[in-house]
Amino acid sequence: MTRYVFKDASEAAMAVSERIVTLLGQRPHAVLGLATGATMEPVYAALVTAHRMGRVSFSRAASFNLDEYVGLPAQHPASYRSTMNRLLFDHIDIDPARTHVPNGLDSDPHRAAAAYEALIATSGPIDLQLLGIGRNGHIGFNEPGSSLNSRTRLVELHAETLQANRAFFADGAVPRQAITMGIAGILSARSIVVLATGTAKQAAIARSLAGHFDADCPASALSEHGDVSWYLDDNAASATRAA
Ligand code: F6R
Repeated sequence: MTRYVFKDASEAAMAVSERIVTLLGQRPHAVLGLATGATMEPVYAALVTAHRMGRVSFSRAASFNLDEYVGLPAQHPASYRSTMNRLLFDHIDIDPARTHVPNGLDSDPHRAAAAYEALIATSGPIDLQLLGIGRNGHIGFNEPGSSLNSRTRLVELHAETLQANRAFFADGAVPRQAITMGIAGILSARSIVVLATGTAKQAAIARSLAGHFDADCPASALSEHGDVSWYLDDNAASATRAA
């Protein structure tokens, strides 16, 4: 495990963006595992800038997003498909057919989850999995109690996740279910990059870095992986400074 601490959220996001630029320079056909959430927005903005400057091409890359709400039309501004299009895919040269987000509109979400898992298995492994972390320690939408063996599946979102994500919904109506990659799927990536900024993430980070799996804090599962880099800002890192 490597931990990098930056002065602020913007520097941490820039470093994550540079990590992706470097990967694509070395491995143009990389398979990227992507996340949504407020923390990732400056990463995608920096990648769009790097692409406009001619520093990075996504033309041979593929991507798999971690999760999607169930029941939201793809065009809904808060769906993770439309969020990714708006923040990243519409502004870079990635082939839209190689950008994957779970299908939250399938009449059978269990089938959609299994199909997503199978698609990752045939296109993967994911070279670099980008992760944010929830205040309750979730990764993807693997809420506390998720198993180390979990795979892509239908999940119920916890009350604090609904509350945290309300800001993305003009009417405050956050869907209660999502399809998420599982913890085992996340751990199948070659490399994992976690970006966490702000004081609200301190406690979850401290529990995640304790060095053993604790089902109450799903991100602690990352201690089972051999190539995880934590990119933190000062505010997020302060509870773990002595670690
Ligand atoms: C989103 C996701 C979530 C977020 C987490 C942090 O695809 O998988 O695990 O990374 O909820 O969200 P923010 O960045 O909004 O605090």
